[in-house]
Amino acid sequence: MTRVALVSGGTRGIGAAISEALKAAGYSVAANYAGNDERALAFKEETGIPVFKWDVSSYDACVAGIAKVEAELGPIDVLVNNAGITRDSMFHKMSPGQWNEVINTNLTGLFNMTHPVWSGMRDRSFGRIINISSINGQKGQMGQANYSAAKAGDIGFTKALAQEGAAKNITVNAICPGYIGTEMVLAVPEKVLNERILPLIPVGRLGQPEEIARCVVFLASDDAGFITGSTLSANGGQYFA
Ligand code: CAA
Repeated sequence: MTRVALVSGGTRGIGAAISEALKAAGYSVAANYAGNDERALAFKEETGIPVFKWDVSSYDACVAGIAKVEAELGPIDVLVNNAGITRDSMFHKMSPGQWNEVINTNLTGLFNMTHPVWSGMRDRSFGRIINISSINGQKGQMGQANYSAAKAGDIGFTKALAQEGAAKNITVNAICPGYIGTEMVLAVPEKVLNERILPLIPVGRLGQPEEIARCVVFLASDDAGFITGSTLSANGGQYFA
């Protein structure tokens, strides 16, 4: 039976690669996105993957959006919590708005997306939750007190929920990508990226979105049934957690 996978932030960056890799692995995939209609529609045209628009920082929007996905594709077996934003700023200049936006999307978004699928997974005794955290949730990053706090929170959420899901055959894992060549990373000032970040990556390059997508496909598979509560680092050797 074809399994259904939902990828938040699934039309751009790492999320787009995840959606495509899951489709190639035989899943029926739904890609959620928050804002960029033009890019989402282009992604849908190119890949044939249906796209669904809602904001993961709103619980009500997640409940309604997930109900729509399930009505069209069937119950969700695999949830990839990938949607994330940055509002980088040195802490002394960070506004409450920059803090709240990042926490609401990157941390509370995991509650909002996972809660509506959790009971169904428990009832069916199968589920895969894969949370895209970050190297910066593991090591902290200057200019990212908000993002590092949220991404560290994602790891705690993963570990707690893994314990609750285990008896129901639901695995919950986190992936911590390092610096991947997406728009999010390329938005970092060039001088900072070249002088402060790239030299710290032992493999000597940015990662590729597909390298994270392959981790997701593995964790979603039956082969990974004994792996839960884990944090998989894919960062080119930049940090050993
Ligand atoms: N390591 C060491 N020093 C750094 C640094 C870093 N990563 N980033 C900035 N600095 C230094 C700067 O060189 C500068 O030092 P000097 O004054 O001696 O030149 C000082 O800190 C202040 O930096 P800016 O002049 O850039 O200050 P700003 O207020 O204009 O900007 C900033 C601050 C927004 C944090 C900017 O530096 C920045 O964007 N830094 C990158 C932050 C980052 O790594 N974000 C990751 C985004 S990608 C992502 O989040 C995906 C993921 O999961 C990995």
